[in-house]
Amino acid sequence: MVLQAIRYQRGSLQILDQLKLPYSEIYDPIESSQDAWHAIKEMRVRGAPAIAIVAALALAVELEIIVSHGKLSTVPEEVKVFVDEKLDYLVTSRPTAVNLADAAGKLKKVVEAAAKQSNATGKDVEQALVEAAEKMLVDDVSDNENIGKHGAAWILRNTDAGNATGKVSILTHCNTGSLATAGYGTALGVVRSLHGQSALQHAFCTETRPYNQGSRLTAYELVHDNIPATLITDSMAAALLRLRGPTENIAAIVVGADRVAANGDTANKIGTYALAILAKYHGVKFLVAAPRTTIDRSTRSGADIVIEQRPGREVTSFRGPQTVGDTVDLDRIETVSIAAKGINVWNPAFDVTPAELISGVVTEVGVVEKGSDGQFNFDSIF
Ligand code: MRU
Repeated sequence: MVLQAIRYQRGSLQILDQLKLPYSEIYDPIESSQDAWHAIKEMRVRGAPAIAIVAALALAVELEIIVSHGKLSTVPEEVKVFVDEKLDYLVTSRPTAVNLADAAGKLKKVVEAAAKQSNATGKDVEQALVEAAEKMLVDDVSDNENIGKHGAAWILRNTDAGNATGKVSILTHCNTGSLATAGYGTALGVVRSLHGQSALQHAFCTETRPYNQGSRLTAYELVHDNIPATLITDSMAAALLRLRGPTENIAAIVVGADRVAANGDTANKIGTYALAILAKYHGVKFLVAAPRTTIDRSTRSGADIVIEQRPGREVTSFRGPQTVGDTVDLDRIETVSIAAKGINVWNPAFDVTPAELISGVVTEVGVVEKGSDGQFNFDSIF
């Protein structure tokens, strides 16, 4: 069975509730922009591409429901204003990942163009939005497959496999797989591609504190796909990079991104920056894998990226099922406090990795490396 964060057919959208993984697979219906806003904010759906696509499809479904009730305005300009307002609202759900704002900007242009057509009806504008949102879902999967292909080829070309088999071991962070995208994944897509061509020795994933996207989601995907993999805590990465065993010989660290600035500085899940420093010290390649929609050329550098601050309770507590002896009771998922009551907490959801620590940015059209001036320039891929 293929892992799917998003289930969609015209007029109906469901998201896999990622707060309940890996304990149970429950899909929640999303019927409006408001449903999507809450699902994104509460991280029932997360990952930069997935939140953009869910926002777009939620609005498409909301419009289809309005049409089915015979309530859609016949005036194109009124439908456009409605869509613009909903998109502005959706963008406020989470600030750091640019894909959501990028998708909203593109959808606004689509409805503007549709509303300007001579003889356009309200329904024409609505259909233009629905079709553009659906295309985002389809395109994301093929983009990810291409990211996987380009990233795997780059790693095999640019790293010493370090063992007689010609296979590489990869360390990844957070969740960037099928659950963070429309399917296949970005950084995890690179791992999937290597595995698919029998070139993966082993994948290591960090647990990704404090929200545990690595241990709950990436580990779940790796086990689901029978990819040879080992989970480590974030603090074990340095010790792992020292090892030179047949399996523990990391050729590259591959991560996703929430926003890549024009100069290559990259916002991604908290802990990414630390891994990039470790990679530099240990002479290991450090790749960012992301679709072009994650590259924000209007943001000059990482200093201009807004970093989302999350509630302290994500650090001071832990959610999991009750265990009695060896038995796990999946019906009793409880929050357990793991910190001294009253302690202050700093919980930035993302950090910024400076471009100088990044070996390359893997996109669906190829890997962008720094030029002879030591700078990234993304103009050629747009
Ligand atoms: O807070 P999250 O879980 O939405 O953060 C996700 C990440 O940082 C991912 O690495 C990033 O969005 C890339 S997803 C393909």
